[in-house]
Amino acid sequence: MRLQVAHTSELDAAVREAAWALLVDVFAGDIAPEDWEHALGGMHALAWEGDELVAHASVVQRRLLHGGRALRAGYVEGVGVRIDRRRHGLGAAVMEPLEAVIAGAYDLGALGSTDEALPFYRARGWKQWRGRCSALTPDGIRPTPAEEGGILVLEGAVALDLDGELTCDWRDGDVW
Ligand SMILES: CC(C)(COP(=O)(O)OP(=O)(O)OC[C@H]1O[C@@H](n2cnc3c(N)ncnc32)[C@H](O)[C@@H]1OP(=O)(O)O)[C@@H](O)C(=O)NCCC(=O)NCCS
Repeated sequence: MRLQVAHTSELDAAVREAAWALLVDVFAGDIAPEDWEHALGGMHALAWEGDELVAHASVVQRRLLHGGRALRAGYVEGVGVRIDRRRHGLGAAVMEPLEAVIAGAYDLGALGSTDEALPFYRARGWKQWRGRCSALTPDGIRPTPAEEGGILVLEGAVALDLDGELTCDWRDGDVW
C-alpha cells in the first residue's frame, strides 16, 4: 500500500475522479456532488494498491462556534475504504496523517459520522458531541437535531464542553 498525502491543488483530474468513484462505490451511490465538494480545499490522504485507490479521507477548514468563540476546525470529509479491503487498517492509515494535520493546525477536529463508522472513530479517540448542534444559516442559527449523536470531535488545545452547543458554518448540501 502506498499512502499519498496531498493538498487538493496537487491532485490531478484523474486522481480526483478516482476518489469520487471510490466514494460513490463506498456509499452505494448515496452521495451527492456537494458531499464531494465539501471534501475539497484541504489535505487528502489516499491509499493506493498499485494503481487502484482503496481508501480516501480529507480534512478541510471550517469555523465552529462554541463557548462564544469561532473555533478553527479541521473537518474530516470523504472517509471511505473499498468494501473488500475493510478491517485491514486502511481506514486508520488515512486518518492518521489527517489527525496529525488537525493536531498541528486546528483548535479541534470534527466530523459527521455514519452509524457504521462510530466504533471506528471512537477507537481513535474521537468523542461524541452530547449537546445541541446547530448551523449558522443565512437566516440565523437553526438547530440541526437530526445530526445530534453523529457529530464527533477530536479535542486539541482548546477546552470543549461536550454538553454545550456546537454551531457549524453555512454551506450547500448537508451542513454537517
Ligand atoms: C469506517 C471505515 C472507514 C473503517 O475503515 P477500515 O479500513 O475498515 O478500518 P480499520 O481496519 O482501519 O479499523 C481500525 C479499527 O477501527 C475499529 N473498527 C473499524 N470498523 C469497525 C466496525 N465496522 N465495527 C467496529 N469497529 C470497527 C476497530 O477497532 C478496528 O481495529 P481492528 O480491526 O483491529 O478491530 C470503513 O468501514 C468504511 O469505509 N465504511 C463505509 C463508509 C463510511 O461509513 N465512512 C465513514 C463516513 S463518516
